[in-house]
Amino acid sequence: MTSKITLCAIGLLAMTGMALPNMARADGLDPIAIRQVGMDLANGNFAFIKTVVKANGDVKPLAEPAKALARWGKTIPVVFPAGSDTGENTKAKPAIWSDRAGFEKAATAMQDAALKLADAAKAGDSAAVAADTKTLGESCGTCHRHYKTK
Ligand code: HEC
Repeated sequence: MTSKITLCAIGLLAMTGMALPNMARADGLDPIAIRQVGMDLANGNFAFIKTVVKANGDVKPLAEPAKALARWGKTIPVVFPAGSDTGENTKAKPAIWSDRAGFEKAATAMQDAALKLADAAKAGDSAAVAADTKTLGESCGTCHRHYKTK
């Protein structure tokens, strides 16, 4: 009995898992468009952070854009579902799906760097913010080198 229920649950889970990407498409949610916009917004946030750091400005207001970047870092893998490797001029490399663990690690590295930056900004520690901004920029570059075409 128990094993039948378990099997049934696994079957249901598998079905749901397979149905989700298609459902998302049917709802008009295009993961490629969403991730490209998200990356553009991340680019704007990061440019703002760099500008303030370079100008030796007040780092406290950088906590919010840094937190947003951390949330985006956490979300990145979600907007690269299986089957979204072609179309819409995507620059996603196949390695995103063949080396999923590496891709997720690169996203986590961005999240961690942005969280650290947010904490340093909140504390008003401009030296730490400058160092963390560099680390954050490297996290973008590392992922792009491995998982994005030019
Ligand atoms: C975990 C991997 C990863 C991280 C981290 C990452 N990116 Fe990306 N980024 C990508 C991939 C893959 C694409 C290509 C997406 C596509 O075209 O479908 C991309 C695309 C972009 C684009 C082009 C978007 C467009 O309009 O086509 C910009 C700009 C960008 N990223 C900026 C950033 C910045 C700034 C950061 C760091 C704050 C960052 N990215 C962090 C993987 C990453």
